[in-house]
Amino acid sequence: MSDRFKGKVALVVGGANADEDHLLGFAGLAALEIARHGGKLVIGDIDDEAGNRSVKKMKEAGLTADYFHLDVTSEVDWAGGVEKTMSLHGQLDIMIMAAGMPDRGERIETTEVDKWRQVMDVTNLGMFLGTRAVVEPMRKSGGGSIVLISSMMAKVVRDQANAYATSRAGMTHFARSAAVQYGPDNIRVNTVLPGWTLTPFTSSAFDEEWLERLAKRVPLGRVADASDIAGPILFLASDEAKYVTGSELLADGGVTSWIGPMD
Ligand SMILES: NC(=O)c1ccc[n+]([C@@H]2O[C@H](COP(=O)([O-])OP(=O)(O)OC[C@H]3O[C@@H](n4cnc5c(N)ncnc54)[C@H](O)[C@@H]3O)[C@@H](O)[C@H]2O)c1
Repeated sequence: MSDRFKGKVALVVGGANADEDHLLGFAGLAALEIARHGGKLVIGDIDDEAGNRSVKKMKEAGLTADYFHLDVTSEVDWAGGVEKTMSLHGQLDIMIMAAGMPDRGERIETTEVDKWRQVMDVTNLGMFLGTRAVVEPMRKSGGGSIVLISSMMAKVVRDQANAYATSRAGMTHFARSAAVQYGPDNIRVNTVLPGWTLTPFTSSAFDEEWLERLAKRVPLGRVADASDIAGPILFLASDEAKYVTGSELLADGGVTSWIGPMD
């Protein structure tokens, strides 16, 4: 194992699916890799069962990992998560925020107001509260890296799921704003824009037939798995990206570059 994240403390929110014996989420895999490569890891999520199971396995493997219940829409939960991270490890260097909820199949006139609010709250209120909560401890650590998980839906849209797409586009602009504000503190803020990826988030929607249909729309010829997206997340989180801030890293297999087949 390399010591790529040695000396770093990471708070990964929405990273509960980090147990390799189950389907991995990409933030979950990024969390696991940070711990494997010398980092001290704290996972926050609302899926306590998955989060506790993932961390138990990491501890059994000798890694430094803890889990806390953290709902990204709760200011109190963010304060508690940061406080616990600081009391455990005395510093905070990396924050990855991957919480999300889908609004598949909804058109504008049939989207319930509550649904719109929920999607916006988890993504946009979550990124705001999370960034606000980690800035001061990162400043004390001499800088840090915030990685917000957006989506290729920030760049293109479907004829539905507009709350999701709008919230993801908001995320990329928020990241630019935060990058400008906190650059002087050496705090970098970037977004990753994943394409279609088979994870717990999509597993109920992506059956075999759907996976095949989607793959035909991807220049790289396949739907991503968690490792395809964890790599870009880890790059932005690490010091290898030490001059990268305010950027959007598309990891979509080429989908958003393609006008579609010419037949
Ligand atoms: N899988 C894809 O195709 C895809 C593509 C683009 C973007 N995304 C986004 O990437 C992110 C990570 O998803 P994933 O595919 O790795 O799946 P995932 O299910 O492993 O990750 C999402 C996590 O967010 C957690 N979560 C949901 N609401 C929360 C809340 N209020 N507070 C804290 N945690 C909460 C879930 O419990 C889950 O652990 C999501 O935001 C998703 O919208 C996914």
